[in-house]
Amino acid sequence: MAEIELRDLAHRYAGAADWALRPLDLTLADGEIHALLGPSGCGKTTLLNLVSGLLSPTRGAVRLGDADVTALGPRERGVAQVFQFPVVYETMTVRGNLEFPLRNRGVPAAVRRRRAEDVAARLDLDALLDRSTRGLPADVRQRIALGRGLVREDVAAVLLDEPLTAVDPAARGALRDSLRAAHRRIASTLVYVTHDQGEALAIADRVVVMDHGRVVQQGTPRELLTRPADVFVARFLGSPGMNLLPGGVEAGAVRLGGDGRRVVGVRPEDVRFAPADGAEGVAADVEEVVDEGHRRLVLARIGDRRVVAAVPDPEPAPSPGACRVTFDAARAVEFVDGEAAS
Ligand SMILES: Nc1ncnc2c1ncn2[C@@H]1O[C@H](COP(=O)(O)OP(=O)(O)O)[C@@H](O)[C@H]1O
Ligand SMILES: [Mg+2]
Repeated sequence: MAEIELRDLAHRYAGAADWALRPLDLTLADGEIHALLGPSGCGKTTLLNLVSGLLSPTRGAVRLGDADVTALGPRERGVAQVFQFPVVYETMTVRGNLEFPLRNRGVPAAVRRRRAEDVAARLDLDALLDRSTRGLPADVRQRIALGRGLVREDVAAVLLDEPLTAVDPAARGALRDSLRAAHRRIASTLVYVTHDQGEALAIADRVVVMDHGRVVQQGTPRELLTRPADVFVARFLGSPGMNLLPGGVEAGAVRLGGDGRRVVGVRPEDVRFAPADGAEGVAADVEEVVDEGHRRLVLARIGDRRVVAAVPDPEPAPSPGACRVTFDAARAVEFVDGEAAS
């Protein structure tokens, strides 16, 4: 178990015109689950492979705990890596797969057995231990691959690259819960790469949001949702993301309009409706109401700007047509030139 510290770390692939990862400083605290979240191509896998040692950085340093491991290969770093598509040894039983990393390191049979059974229980594999791995479905195969990553006691970190990609969406939630349960037991530093914000927010203690080879923001799910550092994070997180309108927060109220450098961000959950003939808020026009069961999404316009509001289930949603909208100013965020104003 170790803190992961990246200092002035950057990577450019041989022959590539641009950096895959721009120089960054980042600390991933010991014992926590960290998600690396960002759109495809933003550099998540590159960053993960620099930590594991599969890639050697163009510049900068990787530290695990007290040690600079930049010059070490993957085996010497003592990290476990789980890939997008599960790697399972089909000539072995489930138990054989789970014990494999321990057998490789000369761990005594009794300890191997106890560790494998412990990790199997946490990943819901205990009933399958003595089965062949042939023909098992993708989610079970990925449970086995996760188990092999989590079975060692001596790892500095466990790194997972989009581990649910090959798993049926219906099985993902359960697998995520198993992974969290297994993590609580081993308390190892875990780095989880995903492009899926729902997955990142559900599994991680702390999320690193990346875009175009840069770390844009690191924070708890709550910090990222309530205090996005820039308009990219504001738009990217939440479903849908923040409404971004020209304007700002003045004297405890959202005021629309202005010079275009200032933008105010309001979550769909923080938009409210008032009668069209009242004086509260600003005039708007409701175009469509989408019933999602647990909430209604109201698509409206204020002048030529689109605004989305999320109305939780028992509350009444407005009908299409003229209305007025108000914003929860206490939860609104003001941006200047794209960056959060403090
Ligand atoms: N082996 C490689 N050679 C050259 N360019 C690469 C290689 N792997 C990735 N890249 C490029 O580096 C950037 C980051 O890729 P990657 O780290 O795989 O992103 P992500 O995992 O977030 O989808 C992308 O522009 C990608 O095309
Ligand atoms: Mg990737």
